[in-house]
Amino acid sequence: PLLLLALFPLAEAKGWLSPVSYDNIDYYEIDIKPVDIEIYPGKKARHVGYNGTVPGPTFKMKQGREAVVRFINHADRANSVHLHGSYSRAPFDGWAEDTTEPGQYKDYYYPNAQAARTLWYHDHAVGHTAENAYYGQAGFYILEDDQKNSLGLPSGNYDIPLALAAKRYNADGSLWDPEANGETTSVFGDVIQVNGQPWPYLAVEPRKYLFRFLDTSVSRSFQLYAEADKKVGTRIPFSVIGSDAGLLASPVSTTQLDISMAERWEVVFDFSSYAGQNITLKNTGNVAADDDFDGTDRVMRFMVGNSVSDNTNNGPLPATLRSVPLPPAKTTVDRSYEFMRSNGEWQVNNVVWSDVQDRVIAKPERGAVERWELVNSAGGWSHPIHIHLIDFQVVSRTGGTRGVLPYEQTALKDVVWLNKNEKVQVLARYGPWDGLYMFHCHNLIHEDHDMMAALNVTALKD
Ligand code: C2O
Ligand code: CU
Repeated sequence: PLLLLALFPLAEAKGWLSPVSYDNIDYYEIDIKPVDIEIYPGKKARHVGYNGTVPGPTFKMKQGREAVVRFINHADRANSVHLHGSYSRAPFDGWAEDTTEPGQYKDYYYPNAQAARTLWYHDHAVGHTAENAYYGQAGFYILEDDQKNSLGLPSGNYDIPLALAAKRYNADGSLWDPEANGETTSVFGDVIQVNGQPWPYLAVEPRKYLFRFLDTSVSRSFQLYAEADKKVGTRIPFSVIGSDAGLLASPVSTTQLDISMAERWEVVFDFSSYAGQNITLKNTGNVAADDDFDGTDRVMRFMVGNSVSDNTNNGPLPATLRSVPLPPAKTTVDRSYEFMRSNGEWQVNNVVWSDVQDRVIAKPERGAVERWELVNSAGGWSHPIHIHLIDFQVVSRTGGTRGVLPYEQTALKDVVWLNKNEKVQVLARYGPWDGLYMFHCHNLIHEDHDMMAALNVTALKD
């Protein structure tokens, strides 16, 4: 019944949070609370969201202004909040067991000292991350800086965050519950949502837009492309300008964007030659999946109007976006981690998160540059791998059908899609802080069922 494309307008995921401001620091409060949402008209689905919205409210932050965010737990289970993409100090990073119980709150400190990037905040509670994020605890956190703002990129109403999700619903319109159903492998979901709405439409003007794509899905990756409805079969080129960790060195033109769970890609679409037309954003990355039916090859529709109301920041893209602080080259592999399934468990090098004694499997020296190899030897699954604290460069990808993607080459990232049979090497400087951090698969069911380990960044040599 929900297969009609473009029935619902896209909801805005925009900044409206107003902080209490002190000298150089802003204070925010977020209530984690239940909310009923009708995805199937007339039928309620219970969610639990930040300030009772799904996705949560968007933070709009400026580099150089620190923030404290109080997350107050009005839900009926524990939570932990991770600001994904921030080099937060360990006590504020959302460590899985650092949970806040119902009725309690925790104040998180965020430095906001990094360069402009698209971050997101989501739940990270031990064993329940999939459930909590799926029920709504996920939102955008956008960090801006002067350098990026000087580039003349589409801004204001022309800068639109798009949170993708894929969910599964029961016949009564409620969310299909992964924990109650004992799910231990994946929730692909057959209802594609953007900013909470299934298959929405967005009225756009015939000009340039900046879209910030984020895949909040529990288990679904996408391979996105766009076609004018009048010209099906011809993919429209667009420019990738930013990754998880900010701007690329220069715009990269492509006709397909691969995006896996937790990845962010900033993309500039130019609708100027499509006045009066409909453009559909489609997905070719279908997986054999639970309940997977007709609609997972479509994501949303852009309905292009006939006039431009504001031509600000609508010029050609700059040839150079920034000098990306890539780590110095290094050819030797320092550590190798296999993301595997063994004895019915998801593991990292035979370790599971619940092995508290054994789960710290990397001790990089603070400030050291290391090259890690991430291996997916099993053909059946893909695993987007996220390493907390650091930004890495994807330096090689072998074994599958793709190499390093063109827009990954000058990108800094914090999560990389390790597809079936792929072996990916990532290069990073481990810092800036000491401390215990997590790294894990961002298929949240895999993460909860224990494909997670820890790194301890230390001032001492391993
Ligand atoms: Cu987006 Cu450890 O998480
Ligand atoms: Cu996985």
